[in-house]
Amino acid sequence: MLGFGIISLALAGPTLAANLLGDPCAAIANQTWVSPADVRACFTSFPVDAELKNNIVEVVNKTLAFHTSVNYQRHAPPPFSDDVHADVLGDLADISSQIPEFPSDFDLHLAISRALKRLNDGHCAYINLCYDALFISYLPTPLVLLTDPSDGLQHVHIAPEAHTVASAEFGEDAMRVWQDALPAGLKGGLESLSGAEVLLINDEDPFVAVDANALVTGKFQGRGTRQNLFFASYMRTEDGWAYQLGDFAQQTLPLIDEVTMALRPSGRQDIVNVTLPYRSRLLDVAEPWNDSTTFRAAHCVANELTNGVDLYADRPPAPASAAQRPLQAPRHPTRKHLINALLEDTMTRQKMQDIELPVALTPKKPLNGSGGVAQFYMLDVNATDDAEEKTGVLMLGSFAASDFDALQKSLLVGLQGLKDAGAKKLVVDVTNNGGGYICIAHWLHRIIAGPKSTTIPQAGLQTEARAGPLARRIVRAIAQGADPDNKLLYNPLNWAFANHTPFPAPYDWLGKVVDRTVNGQGDAFSQELGDECQPFEMDPPVEALFDPRKVAIVSNGRCASSCSLFSITMAKEEGATTVVVGGKSDIQQQYCGVVGGQSTHFTEIDTEIKTAQLKNDSLAPPDFKTNSVVGITWRLGFGIEDPTGPEEWQDHPADINLPLTAELVNNPMAIWERIAKTIL
Ligand SMILES: *[C@@H]1O[C@H](CO)[C@@H](O)[C@H](O)[C@H]1NC(C)=O
Ligand SMILES: *[C@@H]1O[C@H](CO)[C@@H](O)[C@H](O)[C@H]1NC(C)=O
Ligand SMILES: *[C@@H]1O[C@H](CO)[C@@H](O)[C@H](O)[C@H]1NC(C)=O
Ligand SMILES: *[C@@H]1O[C@H](CO)[C@@H](O)[C@H](O)[C@H]1NC(C)=O
Ligand SMILES: *[C@@H]1O[C@H](CO)[C@@H](O)[C@H](O)[C@H]1NC(C)=O
Ligand SMILES: *[C@@H]1O[C@H](CO)[C@@H](O)[C@H](O)[C@H]1NC(C)=O
Ligand SMILES: *[C@@H]1O[C@H](CO)[C@@H](O)[C@H](O)[C@H]1NC(C)=O
Repeated sequence: MLGFGIISLALAGPTLAANLLGDPCAAIANQTWVSPADVRACFTSFPVDAELKNNIVEVVNKTLAFHTSVNYQRHAPPPFSDDVHADVLGDLADISSQIPEFPSDFDLHLAISRALKRLNDGHCAYINLCYDALFISYLPTPLVLLTDPSDGLQHVHIAPEAHTVASAEFGEDAMRVWQDALPAGLKGGLESLSGAEVLLINDEDPFVAVDANALVTGKFQGRGTRQNLFFASYMRTEDGWAYQLGDFAQQTLPLIDEVTMALRPSGRQDIVNVTLPYRSRLLDVAEPWNDSTTFRAAHCVANELTNGVDLYADRPPAPASAAQRPLQAPRHPTRKHLINALLEDTMTRQKMQDIELPVALTPKKPLNGSGGVAQFYMLDVNATDDAEEKTGVLMLGSFAASDFDALQKSLLVGLQGLKDAGAKKLVVDVTNNGGGYICIAHWLHRIIAGPKSTTIPQAGLQTEARAGPLARRIVRAIAQGADPDNKLLYNPLNWAFANHTPFPAPYDWLGKVVDRTVNGQGDAFSQELGDECQPFEMDPPVEALFDPRKVAIVSNGRCASSCSLFSITMAKEEGATTVVVGGKSDIQQQYCGVVGGQSTHFTEIDTEIKTAQLKNDSLAPPDFKTNSVVGITWRLGFGIEDPTGPEEWQDHPADINLPLTAELVNNPMAIWERIAKTIL
C-alpha cells in the first residue's frame, strides 16, 4: 500500500506525448506544470543500477550505526507500540537482496525512503534530490477537519479559504486545468466548492484516505499527528505567514493522478461528485535539462555538498551561501550552536516556494521584539472577556533562524514587552514548528519560567549519544589530537559530565560506554551528558516573565525536536497547559513528537570520519554517488517522568483537543482568542 488511491507504478505507463517523443524526461523539460504521470514516466525510465544501489544501501546502513534509535524503534513502548515497530536494518537487507529487482530506480527509491519513514521519526529520513520534492503535486482543494457547532460532530471539509489560497498561488493558467475538470454544471465554479463538506474520497469514508496517508507519511510517532498532517494549517516562517496545504493537496512525489470526492457544497443539500487531477509543479530553482542524460546529470549525482570533507585538508568546505541544501545552521562567530530539527524533503531545497496565508487570516499589529520566526501580539481584552489579566501571544514558527543572537534577543524583548504591557497570561503558538537550535529551546523555557531547579543549570534534557565502534574510534582519534581546533561534533570540548562539569580536553569520553539491551538487542551508549547551553550568551531575567501555569502551548501536534524539548519541559516540569487544535475527537492527541536530543545527517558524520582520518575503516560509509541525504538522531534526551529511558517514546498527551469551526480554522488570532477565553 503506497498511499491513498495509489496506482501501481509498474502499471503506470508514460503518457502518449512522452511515448511520441521517445524520451520521457525530454517530454517534461522546460515546463513548469505537468501531469504526475508524465513526471513518473521520466522518474521510472531509469533501471536500477546495481553499483548505485549497493552504494545507497551501504551509506544508509552504515550511517544508521550513528542513529541512537535503531533498536528502540524495533518496538516502542505504549502508547506508541502500534506506531513504531520496524526493523530498518532488516528492511534494508531485504531491499538489498530483492528478487526480482525493482522495476526502476524510482521504485527502489520509494522502498528505501519508506523503510526509513516507517520509523515515524522525522529526524531519520532518506532523501534523494533526484526525486523528492523536485516536482510538488498539488490539488486546489486543501482539506480541514471541522466540528459542527450544532451537534459537535466532526466532518472533513474543503478549507473555506481554499480558493483564495489556490488562485493567489497557482495563477490562472494552472487553475484553468482544474476549472475545466469540473462536471458540466460546475465548470469554472471551483470557488463554490470552498467550505464544502467532503462525504467520500474515492468512494470511501474520508478517514480511509486520512489513515492510508498516516501509514506512509512518516515523521511523527503519534497517529493523531500523522492524521493531522493530511489537513491544511498555517505557519510562521522567517519571511512571513505561510499556508501549508497538507498532505492531501500537496505531495512531494508524483504518485497520485487524480482524486474523486463526493461533496456537499456550503448552503446546499445536493451532493456533487468531482474528479480533480493532481498537477505537478517544478521547483522554481531547479537546474534545467533537455533529456534523460541531462536530467540525471543535473539532479541525480552527488555534488560538492553531498559528502563530508576533512576539515584540516587544503580544500575548504563549500561556502554556506552556495549551499543547495541549507542543512547546516550558519556558523556562529564564537560558539557552535547545535541543532535538533526535523529533516523534511522540502527543507533540503534551498528555497521552497512558500504559499501565503490569506491576508484576512493573517494576524495584524505585531508588537516590539517581533522579527522573523518570532511574532508577538496582545489580545484585545474585550475579545477575551478578561479585563483583569491580559493575554499576550508568542507565535514561534521555528527554533532556527539565520541569526541565533537575534532570535535569542527577540524572545526576551518580545516577552518582556508583553509583560510590561500588562500581560499575565501567555499563548505560545508552535504550530508546524519543526525545531532548530537546542539552546534557544532551553533559553525560552528559562526566561518564561524564571530561575529555579528545573531551569538551572539544565533547562533541557540530559542526553546520551550512541557509542558504536566507529564513533568510539572517532573520539579516540580526537583524544589523540585529530581535532586541535575543536571543529568536530565528537570533540569533548562541546560536552559535559552528567553533573554539568565540562569535559576536559583531551578526554576519550566514549572510552567507557554504557552497555544496554534494547528490545533484545545489545547496544551501547555514551555516559549521560549534562547541559551545554549555560551560561547563556545573554543575561536571562532574574524573575519569571510568566507564571507557567498561565501559559498555553498550542499547535496542530506538529511541534518537533527542539520544539518538543521546550514543550515537554514546560508541560511536565512547569505545568503549562497543552492544546492541540482540530485533532480527530476520538484519538488522543500528542502535543509534540520526535523529541530526539540532537539531530544530524550523513554529511556531518562523514566530515567527522574524514577529519579523524578514519575513512579507510571498514565501518565507514563510502561517499554517496547519488544526490542523497540521510538524517539521524545523534543524541537522545532522557525522560522526565521515567528518567531511565529516552523521552522520545514517552507519552505527551495534549490536555485539550480544541475543535475547529469554519470561523476558527487557519485563523490564528481567532484561535488564540478562543483559547484565552475558554482555556487560560
Ligand atoms: C523554454 O520555454 C520557454 C517558454 O515556454 C521558451 O521561450 C524557451 O525557448 C524554452 N527553452 C528551451 C531551451 O527550450
Ligand atoms: C549493514 O552493516 C552491517 C554491519 O557492517 C552488516 O552486517 C550488514 O550486512 C549490512 N547490511 C546491509 C543490507 O548491507
Ligand atoms: C456520486 O457518487 C456516488 C457514489 O460514488 C453515487 O452514489 C452518486 O449517485 C453520485 N452522485 C451523482 C450526483 O452523480
Ligand atoms: C541539452 O543540454 C546540454 C547540456 O546543457 C547541451 O550540451 C545540449 O546541446 C542540449 N541539447 C539539445 C538538443 O538542446
Ligand atoms: C522596544 O524594545 C526596545 C529594546 O528593549 C526598547 O528600547 C524600545 O523602547 C521598545 N519600544 C517600544 C515601542 O516599546
Ligand atoms: C471594550 O468594550 C468597551 C465597552 O463595550 C469599550 O468602551 C472599549 O472601547 C472596548 N475596547 C476595545 C479595545 O475595543
Ligand atoms: C587507515 O589509514 C591510516 C593512514 O592514513 C593508517 O594508519 C591506518 O592503518 C589505516 N587503517 C586501516 C584500517 O586500513
